[in-house]
Amino acid sequence: MMPLKNARGRFCGVMGLTAVLATTVAVNAQQTSQTLREAFADDFLIGAALSTRLPGGHDKVSTSMIAAQFNQVTPENCMKFGQIHPQPDRYNFTPADQLVAFAEKNKMTVVGHVLVWHNQTPDWVFENAQGKNLTRDELIARMRKHMEAVLGRYKGRIKGWDVVNEAFNGNGTMRRTKWFEIIGADLLEVAFRNAHAVDPNIELYYNDYGMTGGGKRNATVKLIEEFKAKGIRIDGVGMQGHWGLGGPSIDAIEQSIITFAKTGVKVHITELDVDVLPGRKPNRGGDLTKEQYQKEVDPYRNGLPDDMQQRLAKRYAALFGLFLKHKDKIARVTFWGASDKYSWKNNYPIRGRVNHALLFDREAKPKPAFHAVMRLKSK
Ligand code: XIL
Repeated sequence: MMPLKNARGRFCGVMGLTAVLATTVAVNAQQTSQTLREAFADDFLIGAALSTRLPGGHDKVSTSMIAAQFNQVTPENCMKFGQIHPQPDRYNFTPADQLVAFAEKNKMTVVGHVLVWHNQTPDWVFENAQGKNLTRDELIARMRKHMEAVLGRYKGRIKGWDVVNEAFNGNGTMRRTKWFEIIGADLLEVAFRNAHAVDPNIELYYNDYGMTGGGKRNATVKLIEEFKAKGIRIDGVGMQGHWGLGGPSIDAIEQSIITFAKTGVKVHITELDVDVLPGRKPNRGGDLTKEQYQKEVDPYRNGLPDDMQQRLAKRYAALFGLFLKHKDKIARVTFWGASDKYSWKNNYPIRGRVNHALLFDREAKPKPAFHAVMRLKSK
């Protein structure tokens, strides 16, 4: 065994060794008792998306972990059109009210998600009473009324909103959604102008996935530049971080962070999770039994093995190393879910699997990935 040296380079005796070990244990204990929100307080907000029932307090273990670890929350579903405004004259504000109250109680920033999106938006939004498509003006009026009700309700209590979500295709063209079909090419402009008119003090964001690809990156930069030229407010770009262990590369993420920041907006890393499960594989012509296939696509039902925990930890450390390097450009990093128990990745893209995509496990306990992220701050 190598003789041990203490911090000043002197060789330690048995008593010295005990003292060194005691100090190490104390330092480790101190590190793990620190929380994400404390560790990154001077860098960027650290957030989590909350599933609809969480702020109601049915899972006390999870809510106390969330209150301790995060200083920002995003509603995972409860402010989406279909949930908060399910019928033309019916709003369901209860879960959203609970989320905002939970955030205030725990001194957390709230980001609204989302005003204009093609998913989780009922068909009635685009139709008249006869089931026919609305005209452009009618749909714009409906959008405005929705914004007045939802954005207006939380004025002064929500810092910013994802105004539009996922409006571009991978190649940078506009996605053919009902919103686009009826309103037309200036959909984003209309949405941002209206949101700003309803609340001139609120921050406005454009949010999308696949933002490391050239098509969406260029389309987003063009959008911001057009907005700036026309004097339309936009404060941030949300890069959804639904990423994997192997990709996108740190270089590609960095390129997008730098490119977006150059336009003068802040970058928000939204919806961060790291999928550890195999992609959607076809059952090769049915040559596997149902059980074999299940095992292949859902291999970690009984827990994530050590080597995989280490891979996840390394990936998260690389991501957070990059975020810290660009902390001057990044306003927040928001996980899509607080713990593996609540991760949508258990049901997407295949339903009913056991994924391990976040920093906290199903008991809301920190995983090796959490410690790897925290170590970046103790260096
Ligand atoms: C997901 C939620 O996590 C799920 O609970 C829901 O069933 C579907 O939507 N991009 C987004 C998020 O902007 O709103 C999506 O959230 C995930 C993909």
